[in-house]
Amino acid sequence: MFINPVNSLKGIITVPGDKSISHRAVMFGSIAEGVTEVTNFLRGADCLSTIDCFRKLGIYIEEKDSIIRIHGKGLHGLSMPHSILDTGNSGTTTRLITGILSAQDFDVHLTGDESIQKRPMGRIIDPLSQMGADIVSEQNNQCAPLHIHGRPLHGIHYTSPVASAQVKSSILLAGLYADSETSVTEPYLSRNHTEIMLNYFGAQVTSHNTTASVLPGNLLFGQKVDVPGDISSAAYFLAAGLITPNSEILVKNVGINPTRDGIIEVIQKMGGKLKLENVRTENGELVSDLLVSTSELHGIEIGGSLIPRLIDEIPMIAIMAAFAKGKTTIKDAQELKVKESNRIDVCVKNLSSMGAKIEGTDDGMIIEGGYPLHGSRIESHLDHRIAMSFAIAGLNTQTRLEIIGADCVSISYPGYYRDLESLIQ
Ligand code: S3P
Repeated sequence: MFINPVNSLKGIITVPGDKSISHRAVMFGSIAEGVTEVTNFLRGADCLSTIDCFRKLGIYIEEKDSIIRIHGKGLHGLSMPHSILDTGNSGTTTRLITGILSAQDFDVHLTGDESIQKRPMGRIIDPLSQMGADIVSEQNNQCAPLHIHGRPLHGIHYTSPVASAQVKSSILLAGLYADSETSVTEPYLSRNHTEIMLNYFGAQVTSHNTTASVLPGNLLFGQKVDVPGDISSAAYFLAAGLITPNSEILVKNVGINPTRDGIIEVIQKMGGKLKLENVRTENGELVSDLLVSTSELHGIEIGGSLIPRLIDEIPMIAIMAAFAKGKTTIKDAQELKVKESNRIDVCVKNLSSMGAKIEGTDDGMIIEGGYPLHGSRIESHLDHRIAMSFAIAGLNTQTRLEIIGADCVSISYPGYYRDLESLIQ
C-alpha cells in the first residue's frame, strides 16, 4: 500500500471497541451463568479468534455487527473441543485461555499462527505449573503448540518477573478454579481490565499496589458490557493530529483507564495540544473524548512504571519522537522484543530507512528528532501496530511511503485506512 503526504487532517473519529476488553467479555461471558450482551465489540481478527475458540468449547455466541450475545454455561460448563483451538495472531487469547483450560476436566490442543508460535509461553507455563497445571509445549521450546491437560489446581502467590496483563490474567483466571486464594505481584502495574471485569461479573478480586488476588468459589453472572473505544487505536489519530500541519482531530468515546493512559501523559510531556472532554465512567472504566491539534513536540525520557501504561503505543511514540525537536529516550521496554514482531528492531530499521536518526538499545530506543523524513519501502512484518504507526508517518514524509503487508491492520482495526482517509483535507 502507498501512503501519500497530506496537507491537513480534520474531523471526528470514533475508534472501534477496546481489544483487551472485547477479549475478556467473551471469555468471562462464556464461564458466567446466563447471557452476556456486549455492545461495541471489536470485530478484529484477534477477538474473532477468541469467539472461535469458545464456540469450539461448546459456547453458543450470537453475532450481529458489533453486538454479541454469549450464552454462558458457568465456570464448569465448557466441553472438550473436537478440534485443535486456533488462537490466530492473538497473544491475549492464547495466554488467557490457557489459564482457564488448565483447570478443566478435559485435554486441549492449542496453537496459533507463525508469530504466536514464536512468542514466549514459558511466562504462563511456569506459574500455571506451580498451581498444578500440566501444559506441554509440543516442540519443547516453551512456545505454542501447547497440549493442556486439565487438572485440579491449587492457589499460589506468584511474583512475576514481567509487568504483563496477559500473565497476570492467565493466573487469576486459573485462580477462579483453585482450592485457595491466588495472587500475582508484578514489578509495575499492568492493565487491570481483568480485575475490573471479573469483579463486575461477580468474582472476588482485590488489588493492592501491584498485587492482584482472586478468591475461588464465587459464581460469575452474565452482564451487559459496553466496550469503550480502544486508546491503542486512538493513539494513531492523536499522533496524526499532532504531527500533521493544520490539523485538528476529535477522537470520541476513548477508554482512558489509568493503567492504559500513558500515551496521554507522553503527549502532554512532549508539548502536544490535547484536551480531555466529557470524561465519564462506564462499566467501571473511565471514558473520554480526546481533542488534539497540530503541535510543536519536543523529545522526552520514557521508562519505568510508564512503560506498561503505553506498551502498545511505543511504535507510534517512536515516530512522534522522530518528528519532535531533540532527543527522546525509551528505556525499560525490553517487552517490545516479544510482541507481534520485535518492535525495537522493526522501528529502528523502518525509521532509519526513512532518514530518521534512531538507535536501538537492549531495552528501547534513542531517537534524535527533527530531521525531515522521506518515503521508502518498509515492511509491517505482519504486525498491525507497525503498519498503523507507519501509515501516520507516511502522511508526513516528503515523498510517498510504501508499506508491505499493510492489510494486517485487520487484527485490531479492520476499517483503519478508511477512517484515516476520511480526515484528509
Ligand atoms: C494485553 C496485554 C499486553 C498488550 C496486549 C494486550 C491484554 O500484553 O501488549 O496487546 O489484553 O492483556 P502483555 O501482557 O504481554 O504486556
